[in-house]
Amino acid sequence: MPLPDFFEFHLPTRVLYGAGLIDQLSDSLPHWQGKRALLITDQVLEDLGLAERARKGLARAGIRVAGTFNDVPPDSTITTVESCAAAGRRCKAQVIVALGGGSVMDTAKVANILMVKGGRATDHMGAYILGNTRLNPMLAIPTTAGTGSEVTKVAVIADPDSQMKLPFAETQFFPEVALLDPTLTTTLPPLHTALTGMDALTHAIESYVSREAQPASDALALYVIETVNHWLVRACQQPDDLQARGQMLVASCLAGMAFTQSMVGIVHGIAHALGGRWHIPHGLANALVLPEGMAFNLDAAPARFARIAEALGLGLEYPADTAARWLRLTPLRALAQPVARFRPAERWLQLRLGEAAIARVRQLNQELAAVTGMPLNLRDSGMARADETELAALTEAALADGSMLYNPREVTADAVRRILKRLHQASLQPITPALTGGLDAMKDTGPSLTGVFESSEALYDVLGEFYTRLIEDPDLGPTLAASRLCVQFVYEDPDAIVTLDGHQSPPTLTMGPAPDAKPDVIMTMKADFAHAFWLGKANLIRALSRRQVRSKGNVPKAVKLLPVLKPAFRLYPAYLKERGLTQLLAG
Ligand SMILES: [Fe+2]
Repeated sequence: MPLPDFFEFHLPTRVLYGAGLIDQLSDSLPHWQGKRALLITDQVLEDLGLAERARKGLARAGIRVAGTFNDVPPDSTITTVESCAAAGRRCKAQVIVALGGGSVMDTAKVANILMVKGGRATDHMGAYILGNTRLNPMLAIPTTAGTGSEVTKVAVIADPDSQMKLPFAETQFFPEVALLDPTLTTTLPPLHTALTGMDALTHAIESYVSREAQPASDALALYVIETVNHWLVRACQQPDDLQARGQMLVASCLAGMAFTQSMVGIVHGIAHALGGRWHIPHGLANALVLPEGMAFNLDAAPARFARIAEALGLGLEYPADTAARWLRLTPLRALAQPVARFRPAERWLQLRLGEAAIARVRQLNQELAAVTGMPLNLRDSGMARADETELAALTEAALADGSMLYNPREVTADAVRRILKRLHQASLQPITPALTGGLDAMKDTGPSLTGVFESSEALYDVLGEFYTRLIEDPDLGPTLAASRLCVQFVYEDPDAIVTLDGHQSPPTLTMGPAPDAKPDVIMTMKADFAHAFWLGKANLIRALSRRQVRSKGNVPKAVKLLPVLKPAFRLYPAYLKERGLTQLLAG
């Protein structure tokens, strides 16, 4: 693909991914400690206990939830945004935590402007009008996999009076941190999973063929197309499959990164109109319009649609490329280049591949319909009538949508009208999907043991005696002594300090502060992590890179000991059993 004359890729958001990350926030936001937070969420997440889980996670990180606004509806309105901002002002929030789907995160973004600048939501509608105004830092925690709003600079809010979706775009909308935790998405019902997942696919496909497409968003978009095609049906079939949930959450986030740079097109333009006038969920409207929008655009970007087909597993190499590669291996290699250039039917082939991509997206909708009951036409989606007056009103709203500016082909009223009419009359049937994703199912979800040691005394009792046994072990003891290494473990929850001093001969063990020790390395970690580590269920190197374990001093020297410690992973469970502490082995 030729490079654009100019492009900018701007992503100030720090993205963190991990199953159960919400419960381990303490190291992720050190500079937020002591700050007053407004938690913005919805009633469903409150009832499911996810909001409470977030509160506890934030409390562990030293962040005080000074107020909660949990009244965000599925399609947030300007009234909701203004009530939310009032809640933020009342509790004097310094930081914002948005826990939810697109509606929650978009509410948080626009309410943030009102909290800082005041006024009505409509006063701030538009793009890049904030200038240098700083907004409150935001932590975005998506509980759906589709919107990507955790990494975008846009927000869409409904205005019931005008039946329009109002767009807002500000660089300051980028959250400071996006926290992707797939355990927060397992309660999402299959239908909602399907709809939000199709929103992510639409973001990827529309950004890939957009007039503003660029290499960075292209790379993200193709990855997303491949991932959604592979994992979305499985995430609907197996709601508890953390691998499928994680794949979709990451895909949604990457799609957000792509479209916030390259924008979307005709599909979103029409979907916004359908959402505004008929309250058809955003993901459903996108899912239905997507194949039609692709068909409309195919002629304008056949090479790009052929590449989309490849990402959907429908690639077909141009015969001249194969011939040229073979020729390069023979004495006739000089012919390779002219042969590779011989492409009399290239455009024809690209169009066929594009058609295959459209057929696959349509089939994906039918598979999702079989698994989740997703409607396959606008009649069943709540659009009660498609008379000329209604079609004209919808067409006008769609053409006025900003997304249309980025569509690769100029969108006409006639085209929108035809798409709407066809989708209203459509009579596609559900198709039972083939098994997807199964072979890659997650094998290791990491340690799930939490709150293992009730108190510092319990920790000293269990780990202290275990370390003593390691020092006295006939195989491990001499190795530890030979290392001449003094390691100090600083444990948290409960707090404890254990110093294993190999400078002494034989090595000594000190429980509690050891003022005379001169540790070569100090490792700070959760007590639960230490327990999981000795059970052989936690990876120290990974934990160091994720800052679950913080280290000071000669870490490489300590890490070199790891292979030697392997036998201890068998000794620890045996030791716990011997002491009758089998409850510590659960998890
Ligand atoms: Fe969208």
